[in-house]
Amino acid sequence: MHILAIETSCDETALALVDASGGLKNPKFKIKKNLVASQINIHRPFGGVVPMLAKREHLKNLPLLFNQLLKNKKHTLDADLIAVTVGPGLEPALWTGIEFAKELARLWDKPLLGVSHLDGHLFSALLSKKITKKDFPAIALLVSGGHTILLLIKDMTSFKKLGETVDDAAGEAFDKVARLLKLPYPGGPEVEKCAKNGRRDAIKFPRPMLNQKNYNFSFSGLKTSVLYYLQDNLDALKNKSDIADIAASFQEAVIDTLTKKTMRAAEEFKAKSIWLSGGVSANSALREALSNESKKRKLKFIVPDFEFNTDNAAMIGVAAYMNHLRKKKYKLIAQGNLNF
Ligand code: KG4
Ligand code: ZN
Repeated sequence: MHILAIETSCDETALALVDASGGLKNPKFKIKKNLVASQINIHRPFGGVVPMLAKREHLKNLPLLFNQLLKNKKHTLDADLIAVTVGPGLEPALWTGIEFAKELARLWDKPLLGVSHLDGHLFSALLSKKITKKDFPAIALLVSGGHTILLLIKDMTSFKKLGETVDDAAGEAFDKVARLLKLPYPGGPEVEKCAKNGRRDAIKFPRPMLNQKNYNFSFSGLKTSVLYYLQDNLDALKNKSDIADIAASFQEAVIDTLTKKTMRAAEEFKAKSIWLSGGVSANSALREALSNESKKRKLKFIVPDFEFNTDNAAMIGVAAYMNHLRKKKYKLIAQGNLNF
């Protein structure tokens, strides 16, 4: 199956051509094209994503990327299915992709499938390693700017949410702490860069909800602890090594919480593999911690390559194939708060 996938849920306009085969038992993917037009420079002066600017950029970039995609293809669209993200995300941004996809489906007479952005992140794991029957049950940790979710996957068609954040998402905490540390947007990669020069045990930040017997997370209190620390140490922001220590200690608190809760779930549900996805999975220290803990327990650790961690359309194409096979459909309207 050839799939044209479109993603505009936040600040990346993305189009991909994905070839999928193998069915639910042995899904295989070939990424023919994976185009992303990033809006980082547009939103950076505002310190975060401005929805109406995102919409304007998507409207400008969608036809440009589409033309790029068809280049050298004699301007024919070789696709059996068009897939588009319908949520969660910024609704003005989501609508641009949905309307564009509807127009393409009409012009080229192709079927159109709405896809959840979260399914996209989750199934991006399939772009990493071959996943077989013996890798189930699996525990999936999905960590992005809007979500922090732990899932139990019994097989390719059975997903159960074990827990999620009760306030800020992990990526959101990275972004907010970056702002406190006066680092530019997007904050996650900047905090990681800074943390590389710091001591992760310099400051003992709290690990909220770590000792609770559930699989929920909370990161808003951690962010507030960083704020209080800065209020108590007024000179900290003047000193590069102090900033690095704060970044490293904050990052360690997030990683410690995510890793311990994921491993606790893996033990309880006798998991065979751990899947990591979402923008925060681009964090090398988090990848390393989960990889090490998985190794200790002889669990297969699955994380997609860096280009598929943050928002992209290839993962939407992958999710579209899986959802098509498991007959999962979403309404073709923007659903800002769509969840599992
Ligand atoms: O999946 P994603 O691109 O968009 C959403 O679906 O939200 O995730 C974006 C989030 C942002 O909060 C960003 O700061 C975070 O992922 N992020 C990182 C890193 N790269 C991106 N967080 C920590 N370390 C990173 N290297
Ligand atoms: Zn995302």
